[in-house]
Amino acid sequence: MSLLPPILFVLIVEMAAACHLHPGFYSQTCPKAEAIVRNVMKKAMIREPRSVASVMRFQFHDCFVNGCDASLLLDDTPSMIGEKLALSNINSLRSFEVVDEVKEALEKACPGVVSCADIIIMAARDAVALTGGPDWVVRLGRKDSLTASQEESNNIMPSPRANASSLIDLFSKYNLSVKDLVALSGSHSIGEARCFSIMFRLYNQSGSGKPDPAIEPGFRAKLDKLCPRGGDENVTGDLDATSRLFDNQYFKDLVAGRGFLNSDETLFTFPQTREYVKLFSNDENEFFKAFVEGMLKMGELQSGRPGEIRTNCRKVNGQAVDV
Ligand code: HEM
Ligand SMILES: *[C@@H]1O[C@H](CO)[C@@H](O)[C@H](O)[C@H]1NC(C)=O
Ligand SMILES: *[C@@H]1O[C@H](CO)[C@@H](O)[C@H](O)[C@H]1NC(C)=O
Ligand SMILES: *[C@@H]1O[C@H](CO)[C@@H](O)[C@H](O)[C@H]1NC(C)=O
Ligand SMILES: *[C@@H]1O[C@H](CO)[C@@H](O)[C@H](O)[C@H]1NC(C)=O
Repeated sequence: MSLLPPILFVLIVEMAAACHLHPGFYSQTCPKAEAIVRNVMKKAMIREPRSVASVMRFQFHDCFVNGCDASLLLDDTPSMIGEKLALSNINSLRSFEVVDEVKEALEKACPGVVSCADIIIMAARDAVALTGGPDWVVRLGRKDSLTASQEESNNIMPSPRANASSLIDLFSKYNLSVKDLVALSGSHSIGEARCFSIMFRLYNQSGSGKPDPAIEPGFRAKLDKLCPRGGDENVTGDLDATSRLFDNQYFKDLVAGRGFLNSDETLFTFPQTREYVKLFSNDENEFFKAFVEGMLKMGELQSGRPGEIRTNCRKVNGQAVDV
């Protein structure tokens, strides 16, 4: 009869747990990891307030394409066109240098330990906490992908023209509920978007040759001025009336017909999502609770493909620099 020595038993339990994400994943191997990420994010926000919103957006664009594996962060190579040039990302995703800065600080403190995929998850949480939103415990232990695909991103990421029913369908493929969809769209409480993303709404909604009737007239006059026909489509506007503050203003704006993107305003126009918009516009705590729940669920998406801990978030390990 052989009894497992207690020390071995502990090891086995540890390994089983390591297959899953859990809080404090780096508490032994890099105890300062979370403080380091928060600190770099804080500095980035002081340097450029918008940058934390831009980094927060990475969680959505990373996790929806093959799970949260930092595939988004890989630069193109001669043999691989990654996600950075995909339809929803080109000329739009920004502040990659903030992630580089976080990674550099982490590599200095604990080389080869903290994944880029986990950096995105921690940084997204920090962006929300630093702008006045909720703070929460994140589960960690993700691996970084060995590859990325522009086509996969093109096939998945939604257009700013999307309506609520197509968004409900998309999110349901990830087991994210209607409530999750509305709460997660509340991430547009911070950050900006380009005129490029709303031109059709202002001048040719659904090919009608007319503006989206859901836009409140005063707000439309403001948007027409920001984004005139034939003007510079790289000009940006705030996604809500308090774009540096993570709050429920976004939902109040939707109720008032002052949503920036079509994909925003549609959440109020469609009956399936309207009740949640109303709920969150009236009760910021309900929004915060649902938002945290949604971010945790979205953060669990995993592809099951092999991975590694990249030392540079922009390339897989062992790949020569400057190819
Ligand atoms: C529901 C479907 C969604 C659609 C259709 C959508 C679409 C967009 C678009 C078109 C932009 C502006 C892009 C540009 O003009 O350059 C944007 C910005 C942004 N999105 Fe979303 N988004 C969605 C959900 C989300 C989610 C789930 C998150 C995060 C959890 C998120 C976070 C952000 C942030 C923070 C910005 C501002 C980024 C900045 O200022 O650089 N979005 N989104
Ligand atoms: C918008 O900016 C991108 C680079 O960020 C540039 O390639 C593109 O030509 C610009 N578009 C316009 C209409 O100025
Ligand atoms: C929503 O968008 C989808 C995809 O573009 C379209 O097929 C559908 O007809 C739209 N639904 C409504 C009710 O407008
Ligand atoms: C959604 O949930 C079902 C049933 O629990 C599961 O089989 C499926 O893998 C989940 N899908 C995702 C993308 O998590
Ligand atoms: C509006 O969109 C429709 C369909 O996409 C297109 O045929 C039409 O030429 C557009 N009109 C203008 C003024 O751009």
